[in-house]
Amino acid sequence: MGTSWVNSAERIGSDLHLELTGPGGRRAALIRALREAVRSGRLAPGTRLPPYRSLAADLGVARNTVADAYAELVAEGWLTARQGSGTRVAERAEPLRPAARVPKKAPPRARGPRHDLTQGTPDVSAFPRTAWLASYRRALQQAPNEVFGPGDPAGRPELREALTEYLARARGVRTEPGRIVICSGFAHALRLLFGGGVLRGPLAVEAYGLGFHRQVLAAAGVRTVPLPLDEHGARIDRLARERAVLLTPAHQFPTGGPLHPTRRTAVIDWARARDGLVLEDDYDGEFRYDRKPVGAVQGLDPERVIHIGSVSKSLSPAVRLGWMVLPERYVDAVLAVKGEREAWASVLDQLSLADFIASGSYDRHVRRMRQRYRGRRDRLVAALAEHAPHIEVTGVAAGLHAVLRLPPGTEASAVKAAAWQGIALDGLAAFRHPDTDMPVGDGLVVGYATPSEHAYGPALEALRGALPPP
Ligand SMILES: Cc1ncc(COP(=O)(O)O)c(C=O)c1O
Repeated sequence: MGTSWVNSAERIGSDLHLELTGPGGRRAALIRALREAVRSGRLAPGTRLPPYRSLAADLGVARNTVADAYAELVAEGWLTARQGSGTRVAERAEPLRPAARVPKKAPPRARGPRHDLTQGTPDVSAFPRTAWLASYRRALQQAPNEVFGPGDPAGRPELREALTEYLARARGVRTEPGRIVICSGFAHALRLLFGGGVLRGPLAVEAYGLGFHRQVLAAAGVRTVPLPLDEHGARIDRLARERAVLLTPAHQFPTGGPLHPTRRTAVIDWARARDGLVLEDDYDGEFRYDRKPVGAVQGLDPERVIHIGSVSKSLSPAVRLGWMVLPERYVDAVLAVKGEREAWASVLDQLSLADFIASGSYDRHVRRMRQRYRGRRDRLVAALAEHAPHIEVTGVAAGLHAVLRLPPGTEASAVKAAAWQGIALDGLAAFRHPDTDMPVGDGLVVGYATPSEHAYGPALEALRGALPPP
């Protein structure tokens, strides 16, 4: 097909190379070539295109072919045609700026920690790809067409039903599908509840907790009030005028103990007496190693507790699926905040998760991971017993992290020493609420789930070198 160097005196400035190649005949090839020239900026906005006759002659095509191609591109908005001023490149056809050329350099040396012992991430190398894919495929095959339309803000009924059964069986949660609202994880639940005005602050929170969640709450204009901790967990007796309290009852984050049974009943008594509300962050409730899981506080009084869970620890934080199990009186308000249609949680992923749970794959995965994490915890405890018996390990009955108790005044230097050993981890101080002066002692928070299997041994080896001597 023809090739032409268009050389118009007016505003084209330089030659324009048009090459008529590809499928679909000359007209289609010319449309493609002109579109590409505008898109790439070779034909700038405002540029006048050559008259039909001259371009047709240059390219060796019929005049009508050029006229048709111009008309098509006018219809698409790439060109404008005005009587008396010919055909021009449309002013709003923004050229695609070519990516800045990056000079070739030698690849930078890998920097940053070699061993990731920060808490928070499950072993991402263990994501159950095959089983998830099977669930996704089944879910897609069985889904009615309406699934591909806008989603119900409450979440897919299949998922809410699967969760009702699962949470009752595995976590002792008492609910029904109508009281579950799907969201995209714990942080999203906080945003909906507080940012959306369903609940208001001040909110009591554990004196040590995840700073990110305090930030989410602060961004929603919520003042958080630190609640001291002791060996039995949060000091419920220190709740003052707040009407709501956020707790991690199954496994205090980050110190690691479960909320003592007397405190569990105390917080429900408090909520009943003060018309208060408990927010239960059940972030890693499935991972309990030595005894049966500690059931959810929600089971004690479903009308006083909002139970919030997600798959971030059990499966992957990339899936972005979570759930709120609500007292009946909050369901409508939460749905009103979510709006008319689902805008966060992919309906297809919801169906996949529903199948993953209902088919037993979720249970199998959790069991497999529980075994793996228990093995890692045991290796950590054994390594410390052998090489650093003066360091006490706490919070190891559950979850994906442990706390290594250090002699007073040594935490900051141990975190630095770990960095020198190429280890990323945090000390307890990183989790302290800014308004508390409550001491919990010095300690390192060691996430033992994050490294892949082969990286775990070397990470433990490096950790030895970072611990203070006896
Ligand atoms: C204390 C705590 N709560 C909740 C979560 C889950 O957060 P999300 O569901 O927003 O990923 C995490 C992190 O996985 C956590 O560390």
